[in-house]
Amino acid sequence: MVYLNGDFLEKDKAFVSVMDRGFLFGDSVYEVLPVYEGNIFCFKPHLHRLSESLEAIKIPNPHTNEKWRMTLQQLINYHPQHTNQSIYLQVTRGCDTDRKHTYGKLKPTVYMQSSPFEAVRKEDFLSGLSAITRDDIRWSQCNTKVTSLLANVMYAQEAKQNNVEDVILCRNNIVTECSSANLFIVKNGCVYTHPKGPHILPGITREVVLECADYYNINTEEVTISKEDLLDADEVWISSSTREVLPITKIDDVLINQGKVGGIWPLVFDRYQVEKSLNS
Ligand code: PDD
Repeated sequence: MVYLNGDFLEKDKAFVSVMDRGFLFGDSVYEVLPVYEGNIFCFKPHLHRLSESLEAIKIPNPHTNEKWRMTLQQLINYHPQHTNQSIYLQVTRGCDTDRKHTYGKLKPTVYMQSSPFEAVRKEDFLSGLSAITRDDIRWSQCNTKVTSLLANVMYAQEAKQNNVEDVILCRNNIVTECSSANLFIVKNGCVYTHPKGPHILPGITREVVLECADYYNINTEEVTISKEDLLDADEVWISSSTREVLPITKIDDVLINQGKVGGIWPLVFDRYQVEKSLNS
């Protein structure tokens, strides 16, 4: 079942008009929320980021947080067979009578779907993953979670074709994030990640990962990271709502930590599992 503008429908019965600005212009924002055993992980931060994305592109928030929570819970309850779910939520500016760049007062389109999702298993990642680097050609408002994701889609496809986990993006020799994940490095026991701002999405998982490091009194710093620092790191991790926190041990042709997962990732991974059970 999916949710569309107030109704719960079978996926193949849900349709959006060709006049929808989400379709015509990518004029819309989205969220992806992980659900563990029926509970949304980090509901408030996700809803807060949604309201900031809507505000950034001036779409009125169609629901109160309470209404969002209720509707999300209804959608989750339609899928009791899935222990874990990943909820995709999209709000478009709505439909107009014809295609034009400018807009008047429109009724936003709200769409939500649930997909089953396998929680990450530590034992599957003990050998680490590979990534490749590419120039970051995206616009300078990456902190707004918009559905215009053409560059991200192209990077993800390149990752797939190269048989690697993701593409690490570089803007003027500074590594920002991945096509759909944030990026961390560890050097001499300190965890570094790009500061919040226009060049990265302020990942919800990123915050939890930083809290996990804090839990062990591991120093964390939000600073820019050069490509040289990346390749010379002791550990490299990526994070997202659906991938949690994963280790990268090979970037382009360079082995990180001689191709071995470092000692801090397993700690942070374990703590992340605890946060999931506490925060849900
Ligand atoms: N993407 N950076 C980018 C560019 C992303 O697309 C994502 C998530 C993240 C991590 O954000 P979070 O921790 O809040 O999931 C960082 C989602 C999962 C997606 O597009 O499907």
